Amino acid sequence: MARTGKITVVGAGFYGSTTAQRLAEYDIFDEVVLTDIIEGRPEGLALDMNQSRPVEGFETKVTGQTTTADGDGYEAIAGSAIVIVTAGLPRKPGMSRMDLIGVNAKIVRSVTEQVVKHAPDAVLIVVSNPLDEMTALAARVSGFPAHRVLGQAGMLDTARFTYFVADKLGVPVGSVKTVTLGSHGDTMVPVPSACSVDGKPLMSLLSAADIGELVERTRNGGGEIVALLKTGSAYYAPSAAAARMARAVAEDSGAIMPVCAWVDGQYGISGVYLGVEAEVGSTGVRRVVERDLTQSEQAALRAAAEAVRSKQADVASL
Ligand code: LAC
Repeated sequence: MARTGKITVVGAGFYGSTTAQRLAEYDIFDEVVLTDIIEGRPEGLALDMNQSRPVEGFETKVTGQTTTADGDGYEAIAGSAIVIVTAGLPRKPGMSRMDLIGVNAKIVRSVTEQVVKHAPDAVLIVVSNPLDEMTALAARVSGFPAHRVLGQAGMLDTARFTYFVADKLGVPVGSVKTVTLGSHGDTMVPVPSACSVDGKPLMSLLSAADIGELVERTRNGGGEIVALLKTGSAYYAPSAAAARMARAVAEDSGAIMPVCAWVDGQYGISGVYLGVEAEVGSTGVRRVVERDLTQSEQAALRAAAEAVRSKQADVASL
């Protein structure tokens, strides 16, 4: 594929900068723009990434740009086909993602306003936490059609679940397929009935108790890492997930991936941003893909939708 287009990552923390690096190393974009409000940080990281080009052999140019609270510097994102919003604070040990809602809502709101101004046709991929609420807020503030705003969480939660299963069974991660739906939080809905190892149902390989433990570890997957790191949260797996979503948009691939998407009638749920599987292409979410769920999985997904719905309503006023 020829190198083409411009993509922006807002926020040059660990999550944002590793996402920018992965995108640049794909070598499919003309330009990756990385912004941050910490003066000099995005420029410095971009310079460093550009100096890795001769070694890694990619030509995508990385541009770093400091932005101000008034929106100065955002001209650099003009013409971006995709904008990934990583801006916001990460958790500290003991915090839930929901504890970030007030502070991150303000940040995501102001970033979204600048994106609308400078990259009005972009597909917006939100990764800031609490994820489902921040995605809904960005959609609302942007006024973009719902399909053009999506959030990253399901790819990450699924990757974690897959890794835990592979590790438990001592098999390659490539032989494991898992699915997680619902929220990126307490009402995450891992779907054991849809999980398999080399085509065999997971439920035939592990006891219900073992699966329950892996499900719980997946639900707490981010918190486990926050507790170990003590400052900051995970970024290698999260950035891999966000970059793959952006790549599906850039290549208009139609890949089916778990994402936070606007749900409008699927699973009997309407009017909420929620983790579901969706076909992802150049317009963002092409369609939500519904799968068969057991009754209890279906009930858990509806409960997740209601939990997220009430928070998404609160966040509109933050
Ligand atoms: C996590 C954060 C990024 O789950 O939400 O690690």
